Amino acid sequence: MSGTAPWWRSAVIYQIYIRSFADGNGDGVGDIAGIRSRLPYLKSLGVDAIWINPWYKSPMADHGYDVADFREIDPLFGTVAEAEELIEEAHRHGIRVIPDIVPNHTSDRHAWFQAALAAGPGSPERERYVFRPGRGPDGAEPPNDWVSCFGGPAWTRLPDGEWYLHLFAPEQPDLNWEHPEVRAEFESVLRFWFSRGVDGFRIDVAHGLIKHPELPDLPPRTEPAVLGPLSRREDAEERVRQHVDHPHWDRDEVHEIYRAWRKVADEFPGDRSFVAEAWADTPERLAAYVRRDGLHTAFNFDFLMASWDAKDLRAVIDDSLAMLGAVGAPATWVLSNHDVMRHVSRYGRRTVKRWLANERYEPEGPLDLELGIRRARAAALLMLALPGGAYVYQGEELGLPEVEDLPESVLQDPIWERSGHTDRGRDGCRVPIPWSGQSAPFGFSPEGASAAPWLPQPADWGERSVEAQTGDETSMLELYRRALRTRREHPALGDGTLAWLDTPAGVLALRREPGFVCVVNLSSEAYRLPDHTSVLLASGPVEDGLLAPDQAAWLAV
Ligand code: GLC
Repeated sequence: MSGTAPWWRSAVIYQIYIRSFADGNGDGVGDIAGIRSRLPYLKSLGVDAIWINPWYKSPMADHGYDVADFREIDPLFGTVAEAEELIEEAHRHGIRVIPDIVPNHTSDRHAWFQAALAAGPGSPERERYVFRPGRGPDGAEPPNDWVSCFGGPAWTRLPDGEWYLHLFAPEQPDLNWEHPEVRAEFESVLRFWFSRGVDGFRIDVAHGLIKHPELPDLPPRTEPAVLGPLSRREDAEERVRQHVDHPHWDRDEVHEIYRAWRKVADEFPGDRSFVAEAWADTPERLAAYVRRDGLHTAFNFDFLMASWDAKDLRAVIDDSLAMLGAVGAPATWVLSNHDVMRHVSRYGRRTVKRWLANERYEPEGPLDLELGIRRARAAALLMLALPGGAYVYQGEELGLPEVEDLPESVLQDPIWERSGHTDRGRDGCRVPIPWSGQSAPFGFSPEGASAAPWLPQPADWGERSVEAQTGDETSMLELYRRALRTRREHPALGDGTLAWLDTPAGVLALRREPGFVCVVNLSSEAYRLPDHTSVLLASGPVEDGLLAPDQAAWLAV
């Protein structure tokens, strides 16, 4: 890794789902005080930056992705002054801070939406959102057939007869990005936080801002989505992918917005950077977000959606590196986040399906936790050996599985209600993480907390806590710590290129210079490691130079 390359080309960024990371004030919900108290932990883990899910003032219809005021911190999480203190303290620990920004929609309680409701049909206040008359004789049908990512129609009718668009929950009205005030407001919000020291932003639903001006019905071959483009289709064998012109996802005009944002970031010193949550049909379309005058990086969800299969993973890695490399952008790698089933639970099934952005992942068969952990250990070594940057979702370093048996009475994700109780939603990957002790709240909340954690933690999470794993050389936590330390120190890791070594089917071996090889055995037989001078790190015991199935090793060669 070159010493002069900007930090974001190789950063390991730790995702903090603020509600569930650490509760400083004992109300059962994580907050800024909790994050501040855990900065030494993040430092010892060895991450370069934290991405914090939305912390702005919000009625919490979608846990903060419904923002009522982008310049205020929600009282549940703290204050702007505390956010400033967190940014400063994190910087003192050598950790950069990236908040989430949510430009596609606001909360229905945002001052702009409240003004639009009050002002009525045809008013300039309504032009900042997407209001339309309905179809049918008395306008009783929605303006088009778009569907909400959370289930049901993407339109809600007001008592005055007009409909408004919400690609997510009705409490999240979509903004009209053709409106100059919308553009100016977000540039001003970026400056507000950049001048408070943030190092960048994660852009929520970055591919959704521009809608087809005529708001036509969906193209024929599409189905309701949960997250991501409705139109994505792929034949995993042939790797044939097609971009479908879609009326509200990934429209070309969206890039203009990000060219302007890039200029805003460049006004500030010190390599501020953006990462886009953009779901695109093809790697080429994704690369369009990260051209030199646009955003810096984008999440690479193809890696997260790949099956546990050598051919599939290698194809995803090659496509990503080729397309992003062609525009001079680094790749990023991610295995889990707050929207998807945790990867221990995806991998802990006999069959790990390749999965499409227009589906929610439905696991097949019972969980084999031991298998899931073994593969997750190997996947971590693969991810952290790849060229570019990587994301670690809180709790992944503890090997936490998805909590698949939350009682229905505690489910909070709007998907649960909106799907008519057919989709349990995303709460299972958002359960507060265990820090210490043998019973709930496992150190998540302080002693004597006034409330239980906002989602119940499994009774056996004491054995997965930070305290229980610290110092245990066989634990997931110590594997992540060692991997991150090695990654920092080894000149071959981080930004750069890779070369594949010849291997039998089911085995991946990639070489990086100088002198580093990562081998991952996804076959069902032990594999003899290539010649090496030492094993730098392995996801499990390596005996007689043999790498067992579902294991990975980092070699000095
Ligand atoms: C993004 C977020 C998700 C949120 C949605 C609406 O996909 O990751 O959590 O519900 O946007 O803002």
